[in-house]
Amino acid sequence: MKTIALFDPIREDLERVKRKMRQAAQTEHERLTEALQHLLSSEGKYIRPALVILASRFHPADEDKVLALAAAVELLHTATLVHDDLIDGSLLRRGLPTLNATWNPGATILTGDYLFSRAASLAAETQNVRVVVIFSQTLTLICGGELRQLFSGQSRPPTMDDYYRRISSKTAALFATSTEAGAVLSGAPEDQVQALRNYGHNLGMAFQIIDDVLDFAGDEEQMGKPVASDLRQGIVTLPALYFLSGGNNSGVVVQVLNGTRRDEPAVRAAVDAIRASGALEAAIAEARRFSRRGQEALKVLPDNPHRQILFELADFVVERNR
Ligand code: IPE
Ligand code: IPE
Ligand code: MG
Ligand code: MG
Repeated sequence: MKTIALFDPIREDLERVKRKMRQAAQTEHERLTEALQHLLSSEGKYIRPALVILASRFHPADEDKVLALAAAVELLHTATLVHDDLIDGSLLRRGLPTLNATWNPGATILTGDYLFSRAASLAAETQNVRVVVIFSQTLTLICGGELRQLFSGQSRPPTMDDYYRRISSKTAALFATSTEAGAVLSGAPEDQVQALRNYGHNLGMAFQIIDDVLDFAGDEEQMGKPVASDLRQGIVTLPALYFLSGGNNSGVVVQVLNGTRRDEPAVRAAVDAIRASGALEAAIAEARRFSRRGQEALKVLPDNPHRQILFELADFVVERNR
């Protein structure tokens, strides 16, 4: 399993989540099964299912339900990646070719839809109405976030506020749902549920800011997905916003963002200009602020080894390189 060392104490649980996902991916359609096997043969970091499990560990919970929800969350995440890669035209994910690299858009969309439906069934296995409600609301939020990204900048240049709204919906919402639902399944008191939700939201914000930094500074091999892809698509993320608001007058960044130039040398020059401007460091500092807010929220919870992992995870998401 390729997850992160911090999750070693819950590795067995994550293995069970993986088995549950495999079971959920069995179908009668040969081609679909093939596609699902391809998808599940490459693994991500399992951060969201780990959040469900860790957040459920402050009070005694029904483990089957916790694992069903953890699998549901990871399948939902995987489904959004299938659709996201099609939208972004991205050809590499978790070190393997994406579905859209080899399949037509129709088949790719249907595979994503299938994963969404399996995720929903697994979430329903918790038989907890509050969990099912927040799970379905998250899907609405993610769609809204991805749509806002797709249409961003078309009527006016995106602002910081637009950016934060977009990443809150497309990424932080699922983090917050993972921790909130884990806490709900353990019957935690409401102040603890809210603290864990708050932690998940802030962790997710930090996580997406760093993902956006790594798009400029990361390594394709390490990440298992293409880098420099946001600029190339004209997606304005926090580093670009800092660059633009810092009074920098590099025309090439603007040209790449508005699409007047998208050739390789221009994309390279734009990435270099942003890297040289200090914008990445400023974005990392902002991610660090979210991460600290998340750590602060944990103080309400009983001190146990799981709280410590959540605390360290908030450092990991800022310091990571994959
Ligand atoms: C990728 O998430 C999508 C974003 C929200 C940036 P992860 O980096 O958690 O993806 P995997 O699951 O580890 O591959
Ligand atoms: C996250 O955004 C996508 C979803 C939440 C679906 P990105 O587009 O930045 O994710 P990557 O970089 O492709 O993993
Ligand atoms: Mg993408
Ligand atoms: Mg990205």
